[in-house]
Amino acid sequence: MKILRTITEVRDAVRAARRDNARIGLVPTMGAFHEGHLSLMRQARAASDLVIVSLFVNPTQFGANEDLSTYPRDEARDAALAEAEGVDILFAPDAVEIYPDGFATSIHISGLTYVLDGASRGAHHFDGVATVVTKLLNIVAPDVAYFGQKDGQQVLVVRDLNLDVRIEACPTVREADGLAMSSRNVYLDADARRRATAISRGLDAASALAAAGERDAATLTGAVRRTLAEADIDPEYVELRDLRDLSPVTRLDGEALLAVAARVGGARLIDNHILRGT
Ligand code: PAJ
Repeated sequence: MKILRTITEVRDAVRAARRDNARIGLVPTMGAFHEGHLSLMRQARAASDLVIVSLFVNPTQFGANEDLSTYPRDEARDAALAEAEGVDILFAPDAVEIYPDGFATSIHISGLTYVLDGASRGAHHFDGVATVVTKLLNIVAPDVAYFGQKDGQQVLVVRDLNLDVRIEACPTVREADGLAMSSRNVYLDADARRRATAISRGLDAASALAAAGERDAATLTGAVRRTLAEADIDPEYVELRDLRDLSPVTRLDGEALLAVAARVGGARLIDNHILRGT
């Protein structure tokens, strides 16, 4: 596996692979790899000739009071894990490579980003995500880019860019007790780690109700809220929204995203289930 730092080097590698008609898969990440990231790499490996993983803790998607400075970073460990998954290139640029002095481009996404995490974290968050993902997808120009359904709103934001790249949404990988894997789980102490399982248990309870025929959004979100309250968790949001455009849903029919964000101990955690009402 090669570790590349510059846009020029990545473009040269991609150009060489294209001459051999290689199918190119990209997995954008911020590092601190866990099984969720590795599952995306495996899916990319199975479907591509050249697998590129980007590792870049993108400053523009963090708010002033968020965890940019403390975000877990261990490039040597990440490189070893990526190599073991058969990744060909780890693209790990410095911040100035992506945002040189005087960088000018910023992408603003409206509507989709005014709700859920956009409302909780501020619209700057998804503007930062859209900006860096556009840059990465333009730098690499892969055939397919792999994203996790755990960040369901992020998938919609990326698809809304209409770039000439297939966007694969991959299933959420969980710990044995249901907690969605996240780089931020390292912030949980033992007590918070135990309480955090209420998020996936709440989503499971709501999914079971939906499968049994419950269609009322308030009842479905109420089931999640009750489970969270039992674990002394006060969520930032628990909402049922249309899977295509995130408009509010009062009765489940078709596909909807049941999404949760909550602060547990020192970590801000998100998770979701897709509910089907038909
Ligand atoms: P990061 O949080 O590192 O996540 C990288 C990718 O892994 C994302 O597509 C995310 O949805 C996916 N992922 C995270 N946890 C997962 C899990 N438990 N199961 C399956 N997939 C999971 O998301 C980002 O980075 C950034 O916003 C990025 C897209 C790289 C732009 O900076």
